[in-house]
Amino acid sequence: MVVKAALVFVVVAVLLTYYCHEPVPQDIPQPTLFASFGIVMRTVRHMARIGEYLGIGTEPQNLRYILGALISAGVKLRTGISYREGLECTDTTFDGVRVRVYEPVSARQSSGRVPGLVFIHGGGWVMLSVDAFDELTAHVSKELGIVVVSVKYRLAPEHVFPAAFDDSVAATKFFLQNAEKYNVDSARIGISGDSAGGNLAAAVTLALAKEKGLPKLKTQALLYPALQAIDFQTPSYIDHGHLNTLTKDLMVAYWIWYLNNDQSFREVFKANNHTSDQLKKSQYAGYVDHKMVRPNLRPKIVKTVNKESIKFPEIPNIATILDPRFAPLMADDADLKGLPPTYVMTCEYDVLRDDGVMYATRLRNAGVRVEHDHNERSFHGFLPQFSDNELAGTAMEKYLTYLRKNL
Ligand SMILES: *[C@@H]1O[C@H](CO)[C@@H](O)[C@H](O)[C@H]1NC(C)=O
Repeated sequence: MVVKAALVFVVVAVLLTYYCHEPVPQDIPQPTLFASFGIVMRTVRHMARIGEYLGIGTEPQNLRYILGALISAGVKLRTGISYREGLECTDTTFDGVRVRVYEPVSARQSSGRVPGLVFIHGGGWVMLSVDAFDELTAHVSKELGIVVVSVKYRLAPEHVFPAAFDDSVAATKFFLQNAEKYNVDSARIGISGDSAGGNLAAAVTLALAKEKGLPKLKTQALLYPALQAIDFQTPSYIDHGHLNTLTKDLMVAYWIWYLNNDQSFREVFKANNHTSDQLKKSQYAGYVDHKMVRPNLRPKIVKTVNKESIKFPEIPNIATILDPRFAPLMADDADLKGLPPTYVMTCEYDVLRDDGVMYATRLRNAGVRVEHDHNERSFHGFLPQFSDNELAGTAMEKYLTYLRKNL
């Protein structure tokens, strides 16, 4: 009996040790935080998949539910901290899109108009919420004394592209057109977002640059954004695709949920077999040239081809991967010219590092004023920890400093 119990104990301990072994890069300053983040993401993903296997919800529904519950439990634990003090927070709709508006009481009483910011939250287009980013958006509104509009866009895969994009455009346009109702100067409205929200913020900026009769967005601030889906073998995907804070496998799954919800193609995408040889030699390959990340590489030799003539393997909606509304890095240079001043935040330990680096490089080459903050020792999704984690706190300060100067 005792032997049996001891044996079970040893087996459980070994399994637990094995399970909790988490790859942590050497120079991560808070390895425990990084490892816990990774283990949580990995466990939640396993639970989501087991749930789907057992017929309890789909993987994305389960991811959304479990992470949502974890985050709201975390928020409840922190209720002592009244981060909303001095703010008026209102849930309303802008042109049919649900939004949460954060207004500093000081801004309401101000005789002059104040700047505004549209914020689009991350979560792979499938999960997280305005609630999950409540502390971050409240902090930005309060610190800068500006009105922040956080957008509750429709989520994939129930709503595939372009639902999230359309909602983000509609809410942003409404804010630009109705700024004075919030005592906001419509000439001083910017847009920002993290991860999938950075993708949407960049896509909205590109789209609205072409709209006539609308105030211009003052700036775009993109936080470790996801910007392209034609190359899953960029140096950052290769170097960091195994990190559980955001694995390559999960990032590819997110793109597919957003594109067509057909995960049977996941391995095909991961191997870059979702693009043809013709596409790999076209201007679009030049838009993700690895030379922008590894300067000693030779530039890729590419040929400009007509978008409509590009062939793809048989995958539903696949041509959408070249649509800048879906993947802003696919915008032509002519479309990048004249975009507003841009802030890009990237993290070293992030499969999306190179998406951000490449967009910053291409925008700069197109004559756009770009400020690029690269966080050498940070990982994807670290910013919401700004009140507990020193590196995230410093990054938040830089982001706020940029917005203060450029709104
Ligand atoms: C990708 O394409 C290559 C070359 O055609 C092939 O060898 C490989 O098996 C493919 N992999 C996947 C996952 O589709």
